[in-house]
Amino acid sequence: MTRKSPPRQLARIAWPAMLLLASAACGGNYPNSTFLPNTEFNRDVTSLWNTMLLWGTVVFVIVEVILIAAIVRYRRRPNSPEPEQVHGNTAMEITWTVLPLFILAIIAVPTVRNIWKYQGEAPADALQVQVIGHQWWWEFRYPQYKITTANELYIQANRAVRFELQTVDVIHSFWIPALGGKRDLVNNRTNILWFTPDSTGEQGFIGSCNEYCGSSHANMRFRAYTVNAANFESWAKHQAANAVYPPPAPVVPAAAAVPTSNIGAATQDPATVTPPAPAAPSTGYEFPREQLGAHLVPGTPLPASLKFNEALLANASAERGLQTYSRSACIGCHKIRGNPSSMGILGPDLTHIASRHTIAAGLFPNDAKHMAYWIKNAVTMKPGAKMQVFGIGEMDAVMKRPMTTQGGLTDEQIADVVAYLRTLK
Ligand code: CUA
Repeated sequence: MTRKSPPRQLARIAWPAMLLLASAACGGNYPNSTFLPNTEFNRDVTSLWNTMLLWGTVVFVIVEVILIAAIVRYRRRPNSPEPEQVHGNTAMEITWTVLPLFILAIIAVPTVRNIWKYQGEAPADALQVQVIGHQWWWEFRYPQYKITTANELYIQANRAVRFELQTVDVIHSFWIPALGGKRDLVNNRTNILWFTPDSTGEQGFIGSCNEYCGSSHANMRFRAYTVNAANFESWAKHQAANAVYPPPAPVVPAAAAVPTSNIGAATQDPATVTPPAPAAPSTGYEFPREQLGAHLVPGTPLPASLKFNEALLANASAERGLQTYSRSACIGCHKIRGNPSSMGILGPDLTHIASRHTIAAGLFPNDAKHMAYWIKNAVTMKPGAKMQVFGIGEMDAVMKRPMTTQGGLTDEQIADVVAYLRTLK
């Protein structure tokens, strides 16, 4: 009989399949990999991992060689005699107890040292960031700069950043795989984590929550941007300022402006010198949208059941939107520094909402369309979202009835509110 048995045929397919699968892990671009050497934290973790892999491989090879040798050498043969019967071997038992202890100690010492190091004292000039976990979004406060923002974290390349991790509700876990973490946000205590991003600046990273925290745990994401010192200062200065409404008119460049490189005292007629242009209203540095990698652009689809008259967005009035916003339930949860009626603290600070690239903790792009759907019915877009439903006729899960004109907003009113929020650069 030449026909092979099914297990042998299976083995013939399984080997190449396994090798193919293993080799697939070697190439490719994984922007969210924890082995990317962007911080000293991740380099230390990678070095620990390599140590463990090395020792694990050594132990694996020794054990497998002995196992296979024993199987082959002591296999049952025809007429083989009864093996020698033994009971216990003190020398061997001591050896296989002490050897693993020794190996575990080699792994434990650098592991514990790293845990202490990155929850201990950070460099003195470190950027301080308070991270506050909420179901299901991230609040970031910069006490040195008097900034409160949400879901988008600006940090400085080549400057250590020290996070104070806290939660207002349940346990969350803070992790930016390509930079560092993860560390839990635990009730009634403050956990510390620090590292130094040494990326060249202008790099975006994905952050997420890594401790199950309820229905939108998977939708509790954030973005981290590493930027250079000048850009960070520019961003921070603008974020610390109050929102300005109406937004300052854009500066029209003077028609006769002379390119500065051509200005020469000898050739310049004093009569034609253009007066200095009024200082452009600074909107501060923003992480450039075109620098966002494909993995940083949210692709969550809008729910098919939710409808919004998008044509209204084109002719919406920010002025009417300000009035509507300032009389609506929005102000009970959100703060807009510079709008005295908007003093809430339960939801994300909206002072510079239009300067962010995402809304809903990284779920949707921050544009007029997604903002409008979000205001109309956030719960259908993000399970369990605590943001109130505003669209008239939309089911309000708290009141267990469709929203009415009492507190609800028409599509037109929502479009106006969006227009107002879009001015808050
Ligand atoms: Cu927050 Cu999971």
